[in-house]
Parts: sequence; C-alpha cells; structure tokens
Amino acid sequence: MSGAGCDTPLKALVLGYGIRGRTYAAYAARHPREFELAGLADPAAEFPADSPYPRFRTWEEALAADTGAEAAIIALPDRLHLPAAEAALAKGMHVLLEKPLGCTWDECEKIRAARARAGKMVLAGYVLRYSPYYRELREIVASGEIGELTSVHHLAAISYGKASHAFCRGNWSVESEGTGMLVNKCSHDFDLIEWWTKGRRCRKISSFGSLMHWRPQERPQGAAERCEDCPAQVRAGCPFDARRLYCEREDLRYHFADMSDAAMDKVVKESRYGRCVYAGGNDSVDHQTVLMDFDGGLTIILEMESYSKERRRVSHFFGTRGEIVADEKTIEVKPFLGGDRTVYPDTAGAHGGGDAGIMAQFAFLARKASKERYASILDGALESHRLAFLAEESRKTGKTVDCLAAGGRNG
Ligand SMILES: NC(=O)c1ccc[n+]([C@@H]2O[C@H](COP(=O)([O-])OP(=O)(O)OC[C@H]3O[C@@H](n4cnc5c(N)ncnc54)[C@H](O)[C@@H]3O)[C@@H](O)[C@H]2O)c1
Repeated sequence: MSGAGCDTPLKALVLGYGIRGRTYAAYAARHPREFELAGLADPAAEFPADSPYPRFRTWEEALAADTGAEAAIIALPDRLHLPAAEAALAKGMHVLLEKPLGCTWDECEKIRAARARAGKMVLAGYVLRYSPYYRELREIVASGEIGELTSVHHLAAISYGKASHAFCRGNWSVESEGTGMLVNKCSHDFDLIEWWTKGRRCRKISSFGSLMHWRPQERPQGAAERCEDCPAQVRAGCPFDARRLYCEREDLRYHFADMSDAAMDKVVKESRYGRCVYAGGNDSVDHQTVLMDFDGGLTIILEMESYSKERRRVSHFFGTRGEIVADEKTIEVKPFLGGDRTVYPDTAGAHGGGDAGIMAQFAFLARKASKERYASILDGALESHRLAFLAEESRKTGKTVDCLAAGGRNG
C-alpha cells in the first residue's frame, strides 16, 4: 500500500532508538510525504550528530513534550510496551507497537481497552504480512487453487547465530524478563497463521519444547566463562564462539549501532555477547513445537528451531487439490490436476520489504481508515498473541488447551 494517498505527513515520535527504532526513523526520514518526525527518544542511543529532530531521554519525556505528534512508533523493550502504548493512546495518538504487544495476556487486554477508550489505531509490528512475498503467498492460499486446506507445516528456523544472540546471550534469554521465545519470536508466525486461516477458530492447542543444549551440563571440558578466555582447541570446535559469530561474520552486526571491526572486538571482549553459551543464566527454550486444531478439521504444526544453519521460514500447505511449498524465496504451487508452477516474488529489503510496507500502511491507515477498522486491526493481532500465550500454557502445564473454553483469552 503506498503512502502516496496521505494528504499530509503523519507527525510521529519514535520511542526507543535501538535496531527497530532506527529502522522506522530512517524510513520516516526518507519519506517526508508520509511522515514528519516529531522527535526521537532513547536514554542510551547515540543519535546521528546531524539529526535535525528533537531528542528526548525517555519515552515519558517525549510524550510529555509539546511536539504536536499525532502518532507514536513504539520500539521499546517489551516490558515498556504497555505503559508507553497506554500513555500515547491517552494523548490521542495512533500507535505502531512492536511485537509482542504485551508481555502477558492481561497486558494485551489492557492495550485493547486503552485503544477502545482512545478510538485510535494500534498497528502491531507484524512486518511480514506487509512484504510482497507473504502477500503473494496468502493470495495463492486464499484463491482455493489447492482446494480446501487440510494441514499446514510451518517451520520458523531462527539459525544458530541469531538464536544464540537473542535467546541465549541477549535480551530474550530469561523468560521471566519478557514473554519467552515463542511469543517473542513466533508471534510473527501466529500472525501469519491467523491470516491464512481467517474466519476459522483454533479449537485446541498443544505445545512441547525445552532448553536442550545451551546449558551448563553441555559445556565442553575446559571451556571458560567468556569465549576470549577459552582454550584455542575448545574454541576451534565451538560453532557459537563469539569472535567467529561477531567478528569473522557480518550477519549479526546489524544488532549494534556501531558495526565497525573495533566495535565488534569490544562486543566480544566486554559485553554479554562474549559469554560462553554454556555458562548458564539463560532459561529460554531453544526449540518448540505447537500443534493446532482448527474449525473444520484443519491441523497446523508450527516448529520453532534455534539449531538451523540458515535463517528462514518454510511453509508447506496441503489441500484437497494440491500442495504449496514456500521457502521465503520461491513459492511452488503443485496442483494435482495441471502443471506445477513456481512464483518468484520480490524479496528485496529488510524483512523482505515488510519494514517499509508496514510504515507505508501505518501512515495510510492513520489518514484513511475508519474507527471500526482500527478496532478490527488490533483484534486480529490480539488473536495471534492469544494463541501464542495458550501454546505457552500448554508447554508449561503439559496439557492440551481448549481454546474455545479459555475464558477471557477466548478472543
Ligand atoms: N517486528 C520485528 O520483526 C521485530 C524484530 C526485532 C525486535 N522487535 C521488537 O522491537 C522491540 C525493540 O527491539 P530492538 O531489537 O530494537 O531492541 P533494542 O534493544 O535494540 O532497542 C530498544 C531501545 O529502547 C531504548 N530504551 C530503553 N528504555 C527506554 C526508555 N525509558 N525510553 C526510551 N527508550 C528506551 C533502549 O536504550 C534501546 O536503544 C522489542 O519489543 C522487540 O521484541 C520486533
């Protein structure tokens, strides 16, 4: 959706100037017809020296200031999503809120109530559904070309580098400090599932998962607390050696504002990202499976896996008249009658173009959508959060959860 339909640019604050905040602020700066940046807030970030935008230390200061902002882009740590969203909505702003919306289902319900009071929009940071690849995939699934869906196998392979960074060494390594890996990482995947199954209710959900490998019991003999202190022969055999991941490769550097070699050297020597993955202190799962039973008998398996070489999602759809196999590069459509075909959607850009797509959509919806649409946008996002929280309930209790009887969590 192009933001060209906007009459005037949307005046927006960016709250949290980490990886996500920088991405959104950069888009806004590049698209002055869609956005006018009202300010940036972060206590720790280094703002560009030539940045012309007002700067604030905290999100509270930014919201209290007289900026004339009509919208807040909330890219704060998970635990600050609820208070910042409530405050921005109370000031009459539209909100682009990074996922997870809330750290618990109760927090999600509070965001629903705050949005209803304000009558504004809360758009969840589900960037994937705004990418050309996922739009095309959804269209093919919804077209009925492979008949009625009977099952979907969806793999979210995180990759051992990214997973060790975020869920073993980093921000989401301790479950009690956030939402747990499934809600944090796979809320995207629950969102896709909610989109693919639009109109069908998930009736039952079961989940299994654990932390199998990044534990002190698995620590190689002689390994030190930090990679830099580890004997050379132990490091040579360790795929998770921090110097190999951060200094010899390029693909994890985007997590840091300064991506230079010198900065990466410091990361390995001084930060939490130089710790041995087996040193302990982390309790996030490293793999998890979710089984879902939908109206009409459709079954869906979602697999979240840390130990993959590549980072990608693979979705396999089975229907009564054919199959679709999609791997974030190509979409293979295999009808039982007629020939197979392969579709090659445009996958350029961050999150396959989804980061730009969601920003254009946010500006467009803020100007053009109705109040009823604002309500349904958040309800859809909350349904996918609800399923993720119910899956966690199943993993922790060891029981299949009846989603239709799940009280207040029943959408
Ligand atoms: N949609 C996606 O694909 C996607 C991808 C990654 C992360 N996320 C989500 O985005 C959010 C941010 O993640 P990130 O990777 O950018 O993290 P980050 O740590 O890089 O950025 C968060 C920033 O918030 C700042 N901050 C902390 N307290 C603050 C305060 N009181 N006021 C203002 N700023 C404050 C921090 O200094 C930091 O710079 C998280 O909720 C995460 O789950 C979404």
